[in-house]
Amino acid sequence: MPKPLNIGMIGYGFMGRAHTNGYKRVNDFFDLPYRPVLKAACARDKEKVQAFADNWGYESIETDWRKLLERKDIDAVDVCVPNNLHKEICLAAAAAGKMILCEKPLAMNTAEGEEMCQAVEKAGVANTVWYNYRRVPAVTMAKQLIDEGRLGKVFHYRANFLQDWTINADLPQGGNALWRLDAAAAGSGVTGDLLAHCIDTAIWLNGSITDVSAMTETFIKERTHTATGKKQKVTIDDACSFMCHFGNGSLGLFESTRYARGHKALYTLEVNGEKASLKWDLHDLHRLQYFDYSDEGKLRGWKSIHVSDGDQPYMNKWWVPGLQIGYEHSFVHQVADFLASLGKGTPCHPTFRDALETQKVCDAVLDSAASRSWKNV
Ligand SMILES: NC(=O)c1ccc[n+]([C@@H]2O[C@H](COP(=O)([O-])OP(=O)(O)OC[C@H]3O[C@@H](n4cnc5c(N)ncnc54)[C@H](O)[C@@H]3O)[C@@H](O)[C@H]2O)c1
Repeated sequence: MPKPLNIGMIGYGFMGRAHTNGYKRVNDFFDLPYRPVLKAACARDKEKVQAFADNWGYESIETDWRKLLERKDIDAVDVCVPNNLHKEICLAAAAAGKMILCEKPLAMNTAEGEEMCQAVEKAGVANTVWYNYRRVPAVTMAKQLIDEGRLGKVFHYRANFLQDWTINADLPQGGNALWRLDAAAAGSGVTGDLLAHCIDTAIWLNGSITDVSAMTETFIKERTHTATGKKQKVTIDDACSFMCHFGNGSLGLFESTRYARGHKALYTLEVNGEKASLKWDLHDLHRLQYFDYSDEGKLRGWKSIHVSDGDQPYMNKWWVPGLQIGYEHSFVHQVADFLASLGKGTPCHPTFRDALETQKVCDAVLDSAASRSWKNV
């Protein structure tokens, strides 16, 4: 029988729901040493958090996260709130001896992230950061192919994360749902929000990034702030592109924007090696494109691998070969890996310390753009 693991969820927005779905489904499909129990949901508005708790099956609610952390019946805290709250909550949660599953980006900047790493390491609590794209089976399979040496020496890594939802100049900044446009709540714009995902996957697949040269742009300079009702300067980056060197000698090219009309969440990545190349696209997330130079000449070409078979990552837990899974399953997989790691007493990657590497790259990118110069990570 799996042991109960009592979850305290902070925030009920997009990620609060995605993670809760993961906790609810995981034991139905994975054989694990622990079973998450939806013990308490926490957010500021009593009625709204009660409605969320009722709908999703949480046993109780809190309206102050400090109260949640005082509770003896909470084992693990899930931090699904805007970025400016991550540090304070995680430091307090670590001091209270709670395990922590924190949303990305880890923190507002590297200094905050370092404090958070020290706090969880000092407290010795299990910790992980929700860079969930690692656990899309096709991306996990890309990692396996690279680690097996099938690409050989890597020359190029490129990634894009394109959206178009902030083109409207009348969109306000700040407050519920629009905190991403307010640097005081988000830390940065697309760099911490979107590129952080691309950077985490890149470091995982291709190793460390050593130095960067970046440009950012804020296309709409002023927006009404929801809190004050006044026009205020916009200080997030609406778009960011950067090039970089990896420690393995390969070159990287990254682009992210919320001004690519027609794109909603187009995360794509490509890796070019001496022996093979691979490509992945979030809009076709169950497929991995693969080109193998060792194929017989006349048959050589890009293969579109439908990652849905039992010998492909995670897929033996789901349906029958040929039937794919979706976005939400990446969160189910992260919960499964977290619970399995707890059973083994091993870290669940990315840990806070792993996520700090991404934070360092984000800081170097913003620093490079501001100073118009190359920056070491
Ligand atoms: N892994 C991913 O792919 C992914 C996707 C989206 C968001 N995120 C990250 O998840 C976090 C949350 O983003 P979201 O899209 O779910 O935001 P959201 O705006 O949908 O939800 C935020 C939640 O935080 C709650 N909240 C705000 N202040 C609070 C406080 N003081 N105490 C308790 N609750 C509070 C709000 O009530 C809301 O429920 C962010 O760090 C974001 O970067 C990650």
